Amino acid sequence: MSGVDDATGVLSGVSLDDACKPLGENKEASTSPKDLVVTIGATVPTGFEVTAADEVQEKLGSTSRISKDRGKIYFEIPVTNLPQVHKLRSVDNLFVVVQKFNDFQFQESKEEALKDLEDLVKTLPWTDPLEVWKLNTNLKKRKTKWKKSNGQSNAKKETPEDARGEEEALSSELPDPVASVLESAEVQDPESTNETVPLEEEDDQSDGKEEVEESNGENQHESGDCEKQDMKDEPLKFRVTCNRAGDNHSFKSNEAARDFGGAVQDFFQWKADMTNFDVEVLLNIHNNEVVVGIALTEESLHRRNITHFGPTTLRSTLAYGMLRFCDPQPADIIIDPMCGTGAIPIEGAAEWPNCYHLAGDNHSLAVKRTANNISSILKQIQNKEGTCPSKPIDCIQWDSCNLPLRTGSVDVVVTDMPFGKRIGSKKKNWDLYPACLMEMGRICKPRTGRAVLLTQDRKCFLKALSKVGHLWRKSHTIWVNVGGLHAAVYLLKRSAELFENIRPQW
Ligand SMILES: C[S@@+](CC[C@H](N)C(=O)[O-])C[C@H]1O[C@@H](n2cnc3c(N)ncnc32)[C@H](O)[C@@H]1O
Repeated sequence: MSGVDDATGVLSGVSLDDACKPLGENKEASTSPKDLVVTIGATVPTGFEVTAADEVQEKLGSTSRISKDRGKIYFEIPVTNLPQVHKLRSVDNLFVVVQKFNDFQFQESKEEALKDLEDLVKTLPWTDPLEVWKLNTNLKKRKTKWKKSNGQSNAKKETPEDARGEEEALSSELPDPVASVLESAEVQDPESTNETVPLEEEDDQSDGKEEVEESNGENQHESGDCEKQDMKDEPLKFRVTCNRAGDNHSFKSNEAARDFGGAVQDFFQWKADMTNFDVEVLLNIHNNEVVVGIALTEESLHRRNITHFGPTTLRSTLAYGMLRFCDPQPADIIIDPMCGTGAIPIEGAAEWPNCYHLAGDNHSLAVKRTANNISSILKQIQNKEGTCPSKPIDCIQWDSCNLPLRTGSVDVVVTDMPFGKRIGSKKKNWDLYPACLMEMGRICKPRTGRAVLLTQDRKCFLKALSKVGHLWRKSHTIWVNVGGLHAAVYLLKRSAELFENIRPQW
């Protein structure tokens, strides 16, 4: 936990309000794209902002600021680090910040407030963020090309969602197809990018986003730091997505997106296209904080590892956050006793290959899905390397209340418990939760053992925990949003009590 604690310390000392100047304001145009330092925004599973900031610090050496808008972090990087940013495991979507206003003064009347947003467009420092967008587009094209020629998978496709997951499967296993791009970073002409970027509708930015296209403005503005693009035969296609939170706005998200989008269209002479766009401009408004950005991901980066989905498959980014929360150490034995499709142990095996991961479930279909997901990944590695790969992971059918494991043999338990909604029932949880916690207490090593448990049935969980209070001590709680449900992730520390000395309290 020390890493997370350290990050908390660093972050608590940084306030967004410290940055009085909007980020990216009036930067001088850089001579080479390689020299750019840009601010990246990332959406992360709500509640795991500090964990994500910790990962950014560890892997990129950048300190993050956590937005007032829950579920977002911001950090600066030299543009040469762009490929590494895409390899972060705790982030869902990425964007490059055009400008950030900490205290945007919205006018009271709707017309005036919208006019201000419209007027903003021509004053923004678009040049560097657009350079980053172009570089990023080149990276994605290389990656797609690499995947097409090398990454053909024969894994079973069950749904379109499965297909996306398969394409992204265990991307950390793949060689870096993009590392060389920045070596010869030449920024492409805009028109060369406008038809080759395969974009899909995606909806992972955050709740309640709305996007609108509008207007055929003809005015041209030449202020701001960005020269208007020359009119080409094929203008870039774009859309504006507005995420708005707060109740002090006189306008709706779609109205903001529409008017801001109209101004973007006028300024750049781009063509609005809601579904087949090249550039996605983001307008994030949270009370008086306004962040304008350009999306760098077409779909959420949580779509990885899983090809065989179940009814409650966990996002890989959340699985990563839970695993990181328990600070895995080399040689740790980490189990998920209620693994479903295996999202947690599979992410664990990819990111902590020095640990041993054991996945189990009492439902035969769940075990089959986990086995299929593991095997899809192994096949991908085999296709790539031509060798017979192995991963430090196994799966087994078992009852989490009666595990075939020795007392005190496990270091860490990480699991996503049945909420009692789609899986099981609230009534069953009253028996399941205390029995599970007791069994986890038995198998975990006294004093050093830990458990990271996700549940939405908090009342039942806390009651169950009180019954096994001699075994487990609640150390941290993180509040998360899982598919719109308000859930909690509990970090428990195993007490020093020997299991043999414990008597159940029920
Ligand atoms: C919320 S789901 C886990 C989803 C999983 N994290 C995933 O990504 O697919 C809970 C799982 O607990 C399993 N389960 C319920 N009772 C169990 C028990 N007594 N022993 C083992 N597994 C159990 C269910 O079959 C279900 O797969």
